[in-house]
Amino acid sequence: MAWPLLQLLLIAAPTAAGASSAMTPDGPAPWPEQFHAVLFTNLTNVSIASSGPPLRLHDLYYDWPRRRNLNLIQHQLSGDPLYDVEWNNGTTFYFDSATCRTEQFPVGVLRPGWLADGSAVYLGRETTGGFDCHVWGKAGFIVYYEDALTRRPVRWNFIDVTGIEQFVMSFEVGVVLEDDSQWQAPAHCFLDEAANKTNEDGDHVAVSNGVMDAARLFRKFAGAAAAY
Ligand SMILES: *[C@@H]1O[C@H](CO)[C@@H](O)[C@H](O)[C@H]1NC(C)=O
Ligand SMILES: *[C@@H]1O[C@H](CO)[C@@H](O)[C@H](O)[C@H]1NC(C)=O
Ligand SMILES: *[C@@H]1O[C@H](CO)[C@@H](O)[C@H](O)[C@H]1NC(C)=O
Ligand SMILES: *[C@@H]1O[C@H](CO)[C@@H](O)[C@H](O)[C@H]1NC(C)=O
Repeated sequence: MAWPLLQLLLIAAPTAAGASSAMTPDGPAPWPEQFHAVLFTNLTNVSIASSGPPLRLHDLYYDWPRRRNLNLIQHQLSGDPLYDVEWNNGTTFYFDSATCRTEQFPVGVLRPGWLADGSAVYLGRETTGGFDCHVWGKAGFIVYYEDALTRRPVRWNFIDVTGIEQFVMSFEVGVVLEDDSQWQAPAHCFLDEAANKTNEDGDHVAVSNGVMDAARLFRKFAGAAAAY
């Protein structure tokens, strides 16, 4: 009779789903091609962050199809956000309302598989922020917590003197920042060479960070990962 078999399947299905979150996955999930995440950032090593406040809020707009990435960074109680706009040609514009730095990175925007492809090391299972997570590490550079149930990123820590820890407060797959004015570097990013130099000395952007910020660490990492 077919009936007991159907019953078996109905019983087996939820069990299998439950079991899969209990097992070690093959690797972390790749990033979706487009998402918006709000990240709470703590530069836990305050001594190195002394030139800037240790707590920040990041709006991360990851847009792989258009090969661009934007980090909108707000320091605690500061009304002047920092923009970190990264293009696939390696140019990154790092600016606020008054200052700008341009940096060139040999690799462009992080690939969706930057963590999932290749050499992520499984570090075990841990609860963080109340979420049961699979924990992954890569290249002695990052520790990455992924929700065992939904496979969304929950948190990551950079293995770096800054001790940057980022906590994923929201993760909206498919959300794109369409407003091109948000991506456009302002006029003060396009000063002449002499003005550039003067700009860099008293540079608010440089001073207020004083350290590699999380977005830069990611890029440094992408550069390192590309060499593997
Ligand atoms: C930030 O990190 C420091 C060092 O680990 C910790 O003492 C502090 O409580 C953290 N702050 C917040 C708001 O999580
Ligand atoms: C890279 O692309 C951006 C955005 O189109 C542009 O502003 C920048 O000048 C480009 N950089 C180089 C080195 O071509
Ligand atoms: C924190 O920063 C100080 C000053 O740069 C450094 O000596 C120390 O190693 C850092 N701590 C960690 C845990 O990386
Ligand atoms: C700096 O000077 C170069 C050369 O004139 C220019 O291409 C660039 O846009 C300027 N601005 C920055 C922030 O690099």
